[in-house]
Amino acid sequence: MMNGGGASPGRKFFGAGNLLPRWLTDLDWRFLTLTIPALSLFVFVTITFTPSNPYNPFSSNFAPLRSFFLVDRPNHHPAANSSSFGAANHSPAEGGGVRGRMAVCLVGGARRFELTGPSIVERVLKVYPEADLFLHSPYDKNSFKLLLLSKAPRIAWVRIFQPQPMPETQPELRVLTSSGSPNGIQGLLQYFNLVEGCLTMIKAYQEQRNFTYDWIVRTRVDGYWTAPLGPEFFVPGTYLVPTGSSFGGVNDRLGVGDMNTSIVALSRLSLIPQLDAAGKHQLNSETSFRAQLTTQNVSYVAKRLPFCIVSDRQYGFPPAHYGVPVAAMSSPGPLSGAKCRPCTVACRDKCVEDIMKGLDQGWSWTNWEKGTLHLCDAHGEWESGWEKIFDRMAGSRMASERKRVWKLKVRDCVNEFEEMRRRTANWEAPASAEICKLGLGKAR
Ligand SMILES: *[C@@H]1O[C@H](CO)[C@@H](O)[C@H](O)[C@H]1NC(C)=O
Ligand SMILES: *[C@@H]1O[C@H](CO)[C@@H](O)[C@H](O)[C@H]1NC(C)=O
Ligand SMILES: *[C@@H]1O[C@H](CO)[C@@H](O)[C@H](O)[C@H]1NC(C)=O
Ligand SMILES: *[C@@H]1O[C@H](CO)[C@@H](O)[C@H](O)[C@H]1NC(C)=O
Repeated sequence: MMNGGGASPGRKFFGAGNLLPRWLTDLDWRFLTLTIPALSLFVFVTITFTPSNPYNPFSSNFAPLRSFFLVDRPNHHPAANSSSFGAANHSPAEGGGVRGRMAVCLVGGARRFELTGPSIVERVLKVYPEADLFLHSPYDKNSFKLLLLSKAPRIAWVRIFQPQPMPETQPELRVLTSSGSPNGIQGLLQYFNLVEGCLTMIKAYQEQRNFTYDWIVRTRVDGYWTAPLGPEFFVPGTYLVPTGSSFGGVNDRLGVGDMNTSIVALSRLSLIPQLDAAGKHQLNSETSFRAQLTTQNVSYVAKRLPFCIVSDRQYGFPPAHYGVPVAAMSSPGPLSGAKCRPCTVACRDKCVEDIMKGLDQGWSWTNWEKGTLHLCDAHGEWESGWEKIFDRMAGSRMASERKRVWKLKVRDCVNEFEEMRRRTANWEAPASAEICKLGLGKAR
């Protein structure tokens, strides 16, 4: 696994239909082979407003167009009303026991968001009702599920974008490796752009509103939360990451930090020249992440966090030394960002112990002691009847959200999306009707 696929510097763009790199496995990147003419205007518009993207040749040339589309809606945004919950007027004591202003950055594709979304709203966003949500998500047929975020307390910025192939610079080709990444360095760059794009939005929003955040929580659209993100995960001056799943470096499936540490942690593209200068070469996502932190003198600490990454991907069972264990979502946890799915438990207690003791500690290993981890046999597709398993595990409220999303009519979808748009200060996305029709069919 470590040596799968040699580097091919000649490869410039995504190979269609290839397997996916590890960090992107749960995003549906097939639409990257985009040739749909109807989308091309949106594509053009999107690339013209990726603010200060160093790879975007249009970013300065099209500034007027950008400011035309990037509408700030003072009349609709909560922050306009400083007597309610204006961003520029937070009290020092936030909800949830963390002091200071907080941005929550949510990145990735919406593939199973009907399962993960309600848990993110309840156990992350509603725990910190004064926090501003920033969403950075690639557009696909599942994007309509993002309407579940209309229940978020505050939404600062939504960007649902059509991904573009990114240029691969010489420093990037030296610093990164395509090893373990079937989409090569391009796959890594797409992922890094997803993460750094969130920081770009946060910085732009701070300038718009003339304030700075004290904290940034960076998390994923495909994360399923089993318990609240508590105040103990906010450590000043130190970047917090989940334990395990470190793949030779630092687990990059979530991060919490103050502004200074977060700027370093989220600058996944723009720090590459510095990694190159420091002689850091042939890195994967996790080793590059660690190099970013260490070369910038940012200390980090790993803690067990109560979420897992819901994955459709199939993994051999039982996992070998460098294999990936897939947790049952019903595991007691915390699962600390391990891959998971709803399943009939295939392995627990002694069976888990035998498997986990065979895994490489510095690779896909995750905490398993004291019965906290139950494993799925994930060598095939999700088992039939997984919906019932999920509903029983997640409880009736999450179950009803799942069913509601599946039964949505285009018209209700559009209404809910529009409601979310009205509550969002900066909105960059295809028309709500397009998003809903793409996901739910053309009917009406
Ligand atoms: C601000 O919110 C308060 C309380 O909800 C409301 O009474 C007031 O009319 C609002 N002001 C503006 C300008 O929207
Ligand atoms: C931004 O806020 C600072 C401190 O509150 C203030 O001194 C400054 O004038 C403000 N700038 C703008 C452009 O509003
Ligand atoms: C962040 O960095 C700046 C500049 O290095 C420093 O002055 C400031 O004290 C730092 N803030 C925190 C919270 O560490
Ligand atoms: C990190 O610390 C080392 C040793 O103290 C120092 O030489 C280097 O300049 C620091 N780097 C940054 C980016 O602060």
